[in-house]
Amino acid sequence: MARENWTSSIGFILASAGSAIGLGNIWKFPYVAGENGGGTFVLMYVLCVLLIGLPVMCSEMLIGRQMRRNVINAMGKMEQVGEHAWVRYVLCGLMVGLAAAFASMHAWGLVLAALLGVWWFAKKGFSALGWICTAVALAILSYYAVVGGWIVQYIWLSATNSLSAGVSETATAMEVSKAAGTLFGDYISDPWRVLVGFLIFMGLTAAVIFGGIRDGIERISKILMPALFVLLLVVIVRSLTLPGAWEGVVFLLKPTAEALKPQVILMALGQCFFSLSLGMAITVTYGSYLPKKQNILKAAGWVAVLDTFAALLAGLAIFPAVFAVGLDPTGGPGLIFGALPATFNAMWGGPIWATCFFAMLLIAAVTSSASLLECGATVFIERFRKGHQRCSRKQAVLIGFIGCTVMGLLSVFSTADWSHLEPLHKGCTWVMGKLAMGSWFDLLDNFASNWCLPFTALATALLVGWAWDPRKAAPGLLAEDDAGRFPTWILTAWAFFIRWLAPIGIVLVFLNLAGFIKL
Ligand code: TRP
Repeated sequence: MARENWTSSIGFILASAGSAIGLGNIWKFPYVAGENGGGTFVLMYVLCVLLIGLPVMCSEMLIGRQMRRNVINAMGKMEQVGEHAWVRYVLCGLMVGLAAAFASMHAWGLVLAALLGVWWFAKKGFSALGWICTAVALAILSYYAVVGGWIVQYIWLSATNSLSAGVSETATAMEVSKAAGTLFGDYISDPWRVLVGFLIFMGLTAAVIFGGIRDGIERISKILMPALFVLLLVVIVRSLTLPGAWEGVVFLLKPTAEALKPQVILMALGQCFFSLSLGMAITVTYGSYLPKKQNILKAAGWVAVLDTFAALLAGLAIFPAVFAVGLDPTGGPGLIFGALPATFNAMWGGPIWATCFFAMLLIAAVTSSASLLECGATVFIERFRKGHQRCSRKQAVLIGFIGCTVMGLLSVFSTADWSHLEPLHKGCTWVMGKLAMGSWFDLLDNFASNWCLPFTALATALLVGWAWDPRKAAPGLLAEDDAGRFPTWILTAWAFFIRWLAPIGIVLVFLNLAGFIKL
């Protein structure tokens, strides 16, 4: 069976941007920036995107396009072609280091897992990495869909004009935001209501994937992107004109030296991978559908620019309101749900704008979650067979769907607190030691985006930069008929970034975080 291809380069860029732009930009970026010192974080974030995210994204697209297989086979094959078998032992060494780092955090379960990883990498090499990516992608989906469910609920709340229910007509923005905060708190602590949104969101995600890549993702992305950007601009204008809004802009854009801590750099790095959908082989999957006549550098550049732009716009839409209504910028995952209602309430036709905004956000989130499920589904389709019969697309989606839904239930029932799940809590504390902070939801988010994604991105950099020769690989970044028309220094720069800068940068951040070195 021939694999499907993207119909046009704009289609590929939009679909990749559709995967990249999602809750990571609009929900996560503002609150993580708020918790990590605003402008300083934003500066670090942009640097991470340029120096590490972009080269890694090119590499992932390249792996996909050269190998035209699912992640696991693609990574394994690439290692074989490269003939530098020693690189997998570097990966084993890194795993030993990681095990030591986990031991220093009393995360005994993770130490065990890392040691098993050493053995697995030694035996199977980079195809093991493909499995890890698939597992982490599905784990991310399991809590991503919970936040997606919140958005579903907020569409309902704004459409029925109950976002600011119980607040008087003359209430100040501050009172509205306070009421919105209470509303959000009540909502997430009622697991049954969260469950409804979560299931709707998972259902939507599976439905998109059933449609196949062309029909499902490509068509929807073409309409959605421009609309979301326009709506963000509208919200920005209103939120900037709230009294006291300027302070928020300064907070978001002005770096300060005091705020620069190693933790901030790690968070920026994790957020960069999360937001660009990297480290999870999604871009490998998408790249495997990319025809040879397209230029990867250009496509990756566009995706990174659009994604960063969306995150910055979201920051500009949220922070002026946060400061205008006196919210705490370090307030965590509920930040946008406290700030946005105040802005919408101050707008003429507020509930209508709010409904449109959350609806767009839902579509953006679904295109992202679909990419997470797609990655698992491709693996299942190409790896699971009975005799000669492959697993069908339907079965593959169903396996991913059921797995994520079951795991997602843990997040649903623990977002507020998990005192009622005591044995589970104890187990997690044993497995994750000091990393087991907050609820299951927080812990999964923290572990997946700040540990797993940088690690898998590091491994991808090693694969392309060392196991495979980037000097040989680089021309593959160009379009078939581009040779000679593209400045070669860009290729040399990419080879340097992926060979040296990305791996060293990520390792330094890890070492620092584990307390082995002090930067
Ligand atoms: N990038 C998406 C967002 O910003 C989320 C996402 C989709 C993702 N695919 C991913 C994150 C793969 C990590 C890995 O919302």
